[in-house]
Amino acid sequence: MIGGRSTNFDAVVRMSGQPAQRVSFALDELNKRRLIGFAGENYVVYTSALDLLALKHYADKDYAMALGKLIAKGKESDVYEVLSPRSELFALKLFRLGRTSFRDVKRKRSRSKLESNTWVTSNYNAARHEFAALARLKAITQNVPTAVDQDRHTVLLQELPGVRLSQRPELDDAEEVLSAVLQTARDAYVSARMINADLSEYNILTDGKRVWLIDWPQWVPPTHPNAGELLKRDVSTVLRFFERAYGVSVDGERALVYVRGERDLPRTRRGRPSTRGSGQSRREFPQETRPAQPRPPA
Ligand SMILES: Nc1ncnc2c1ncn2[C@@H]1O[C@H](COP(=O)(O)OP(=O)(O)OP(=O)(O)O)[C@@H](O)[C@H]1O
Ligand SMILES: [Mg+2]
Repeated sequence: MIGGRSTNFDAVVRMSGQPAQRVSFALDELNKRRLIGFAGENYVVYTSALDLLALKHYADKDYAMALGKLIAKGKESDVYEVLSPRSELFALKLFRLGRTSFRDVKRKRSRSKLESNTWVTSNYNAARHEFAALARLKAITQNVPTAVDQDRHTVLLQELPGVRLSQRPELDDAEEVLSAVLQTARDAYVSARMINADLSEYNILTDGKRVWLIDWPQWVPPTHPNAGELLKRDVSTVLRFFERAYGVSVDGERALVYVRGERDLPRTRRGRPSTRGSGQSRREFPQETRPAQPRPPA
């Protein structure tokens, strides 16, 4: 995949400050390793080269010593495990907006109209946006990952011990877990003035007791023209899932009022999950099927 802006040979020589012969040799070597390519007269930096530069940034800052397994390959990112020299485990999220559709690029890019829509701009902005969002949220809740650092199109996150709620893991107390999700959405709304705008069982991790709300680059403030609709969709998506998977139901309107900070948490009702849910081992769960995510307007 082409990642960067294209640049001609003279510009590379100028920017590098190196003799032309040396630049030519280096570019050939990089091309052999498929880190750069050609577009007509111009050189193009591939995504893999930007990935390596980001890794180098984290290695230089002593956050990364080894790249581990691929934790998840999403539509919009690849998430890898990273080991630090202090044996800490991080999750490195590499943005891949535009991998599947241009709509994703529009969705998670910075909202500034002045910025162009290049791959670099969109993905760099998404990473910066997510880092800033998590820093802001961390000041008011523990139920989001800690963003450790950010570079280029990547964010380095604390690796969370949980699995996606969409896998329907066994929960200690499904009602408590739902309460924690709603309370976190409320804290984000009331104290950080943030609506996730893509909240669902796919963006909630849990270890069976605790929850973490992840994936924030598309967040909107309560002043956004579609804020009401987006918050309602976040809340109803979570409620529908808990009812379906764990048989826990809460009145939707009341939950919404609660998340807006206007009343206490409504009582939950316990029923039978409509599909297989709590109490089963994770291995027995059906293959995750992920419906198309609803998209907020760009
Ligand atoms: N901090 C973390 N610790 C552990 N796993 C994580 C972390 N952040 C993300 N993941 C894993 O990576 C997946 C994708 O992360 P995220 O939702 O932030 O990206 P995304 O671009 O929205 O991907 P997708 O298109 O799959 O939704 C998560 O569902 C989770 O499995
Ligand atoms: Mg996600």
